[in-house]
Amino acid sequence: MRRLMSAAVMAAFALPGVPAMADELRETALGLFATVPARVEQVRGAPVTAERVELGRKLFFEPRLSRSHVISCNTCHNLGTGGADNVPTSIGHGWQKGPRNSPTVYNAAFNVAQFWDGRAADLREQAKGPVQAGVEMNSTPERVVATLKSIPDYVAEFAGAFPGMADPVTFDNMALAIEAFETTLITPGARFDRFLGGDDAALDATERRGLQVFIDSGCAACHNGPNVGGQDYFPFGVVERPGAEVLPQGDKGRFAVTNTADDEYVFRAAPLRNVALTAPYFHSGQAWELEQAVAIMSTAQLGTEMTDEDVRAVTAFLHTLTGTPPVVTYPILPASTATTPRPE
Ligand code: HEM
Ligand code: HEM
Repeated sequence: MRRLMSAAVMAAFALPGVPAMADELRETALGLFATVPARVEQVRGAPVTAERVELGRKLFFEPRLSRSHVISCNTCHNLGTGGADNVPTSIGHGWQKGPRNSPTVYNAAFNVAQFWDGRAADLREQAKGPVQAGVEMNSTPERVVATLKSIPDYVAEFAGAFPGMADPVTFDNMALAIEAFETTLITPGARFDRFLGGDDAALDATERRGLQVFIDSGCAACHNGPNVGGQDYFPFGVVERPGAEVLPQGDKGRFAVTNTADDEYVFRAAPLRNVALTAPYFHSGQAWELEQAVAIMSTAQLGTEMTDEDVRAVTAFLHTLTGTPPVVTYPILPASTATTPRPE
């Protein structure tokens, strides 16, 4: 009864700018965002096969893809902690600190391109990067192929996942299998998606107001689509450039990809699905609180000082973007043999 009354009172004294009807807000939101689908069926027009997904799952957790035999994809994209590592910038080979924060692998399949600067066109291209990066896994394609070929179970699994190929154990096929697994790392069923699907009660009044502010104030101009971001590139600091701690001067973002002056300090609008799980924020990983990240965005990207109440409401809305991750079983990996390259 009390809940019914408070809902009625809230509806009667709705704050200005808050639509009385959830339907109206839903309609606007459906024009800007999309629900996370239950599954991804195809990549570049080809079906995602169960054999590739299974091989990719093993490779995602495979520390022998790294020179040290200590670091796997899951080290920096821990599927138990939001698909990220929750430190400012990732720690890789030899305890080296990398230059950027690790973005989540959950729903990465829906991004227009991969990395903060979009330098990899897709997940296949992306997967080859960390294996070779000196500050990440510090291996080489030759070493990876030698490692996988030295383990008979892997040779058999590659043959099953890439039928008809004379020599299926290749660096490219490693990337394709990891990509196939990553297409299963999607998180449908967020409360926001239930709201988009017609369930008014999925968001409370504050969260709905947060969504309204997110749209009306201009956040959704850059953060839109199924991933609430990850679709396009914008200068970080369109209106007011954040301080060097948040936006280190040495990292010019997309400029390194395109070599065009206009792309200095341009980054991909971060995808915001599951953002409540992936602190700290920004490519520098320098904002630990989501409210702080929202306030920085407001001044840097919109040139407005949001009220504390709006910051709280938008943050409450962002929490509704947390979806249901798939159940991933930790794989038992095949043992090394006498010819497997030793850790270095
Ligand atoms: C970026 C997957 C290994 C740290 C990414 C992205 C994906 C991904 C999909 C892009 C996400 C996005 O743009 O939103 C993988 C896979 C790996 C792997 C499949 C194994 C083959 C690692 C390791 C580390 C790491 C071992 C840490 C040592 C990072 C960082 C970025 C990133 C810092 C952002 C880099 C940038 O934007 O320049 N990874 N990752 N990753 N990953 Fe990984
Ligand atoms: C990053 C929220 C407006 C472009 C982020 C992040 C959050 C966020 C939470 C960090 C995500 C993470 O680190 O995982 C918001 C909110 C906005 C807003 C609440 C409205 C107040 C905008 C606008 C633009 C934009 C209008 C484009 C002009 C970006 C870019 C990044 C980002 C490029 C990546 C920054 C980086 O390189 O670290 N946003 N955003 N955002 N946003 Fe926004």
